[in-house]
Amino acid sequence: MTSVLEVKNLKTYFFTEEGIIKAVDDVSFNVPKGTALGLVGESGCGKTVTAMSITRLISAPGRIVGGEILFNGYDLLSKSEKEMRQVRGAQIAMVFQEPMTALNPVLQVGFQIAETVLAHQNVSKREAWARAVEAMRAVSIPDAENRAKDYPHRLSGGMRQRIMIAMALVCHPALIIADEPTTAIDVTIQAQILELLDSLREQYQLSLILISHDLGVVAEVAETVAVMYAGKIVEIGPVMDIFHNPKHPYTEGLLRSVPRLGSSAQKRDRLEVIEGMVPNLLRLPDGCSFAPRCYKRTLECTLSPIPLEHVSRSHGARCIHA
Ligand SMILES: Nc1ncnc2c1ncn2[C@@H]1O[C@H](COP(=O)(O)OP(=O)(O)OP(=O)(O)O)[C@@H](O)[C@H]1O
Ligand code: SF4
Ligand SMILES: [Mg+2]
Repeated sequence: MTSVLEVKNLKTYFFTEEGIIKAVDDVSFNVPKGTALGLVGESGCGKTVTAMSITRLISAPGRIVGGEILFNGYDLLSKSEKEMRQVRGAQIAMVFQEPMTALNPVLQVGFQIAETVLAHQNVSKREAWARAVEAMRAVSIPDAENRAKDYPHRLSGGMRQRIMIAMALVCHPALIIADEPTTAIDVTIQAQILELLDSLREQYQLSLILISHDLGVVAEVAETVAVMYAGKIVEIGPVMDIFHNPKHPYTEGLLRSVPRLGSSAQKRDRLEVIEGMVPNLLRLPDGCSFAPRCYKRTLECTLSPIPLEHVSRSHGARCIHA
């Protein structure tokens, strides 16, 4: 299968007064056309910085210092800012966690979607509005013609998230990156948004990167899961392998915090959190970054950096005791 996106050895560092923060450190993955990749890990592990690197939205003190980002075979890192503006929104679109901060409160939502069309396509305002309404229908917003004239505060959280997805979809991008798209909305609506993303993917042959701290959320949609810890992918593989045959102790820990199948929505709080502190990226230990929290740790783990090694053809883990 051809890949829409190939990220190879990506490194994005922040050059701060306290030191260099390696927010994304040698990250590689592929997104084959029409598939979904889930990117999971605790707060601060580098998920958003990975997404922002792909769309080249990293600003000082951050900088992409290495790697390649091939989108349909072309390296995004060698594109000019002007070329990137044509990629963003039109070919790669992003959906963020909190629609209220991404939407302009004083503009009609239909107008805001239409603006995305006008930014990328040479069509009339009337046509742009029609496409905005069409995109709102595609994300199952009832009475789209009238809702398009609403201001963001008139809509519920779930509806606002649908507006964001409509905005992402309206130029028919090849790839949508959804960064915690369901974190700010309640659980029943969460499931609907995930279903929506999944059905749009099939309908439009979209590829998707779904970012979440919740392994349960990405498992609903993704074929492949990449688990990040302290700026590195520590495990990557088909969702079934990650769930039923995890090789990295950190993934095991994340799995223990996923609610069991069939547990009620109210019980969807964390069952068990992984013990120990989220690491300080300015002071990572030698050897395995997860060692301070790992129940399997041996002296060997702390001597030198741990490579990501294959455990099967499509499954890799960064653990010497995998
Ligand atoms: N502007 C910045 N300046 C300095 N460091 C930054 C900046 N932005 C991000 N970082 C660093 O990059 C790391 C990764 O941040 P990122 O936002 O990608 O985490 P995340 O995995 O998306 O977390 P969350 O689940 O909370 O969204 C953070 O730990 C932080 O130290
Ligand atoms: S390399 Fe060692 S410390 Fe790191 S995850 Fe594996 S067992 Fe734990
Ligand atoms: Mg984030």
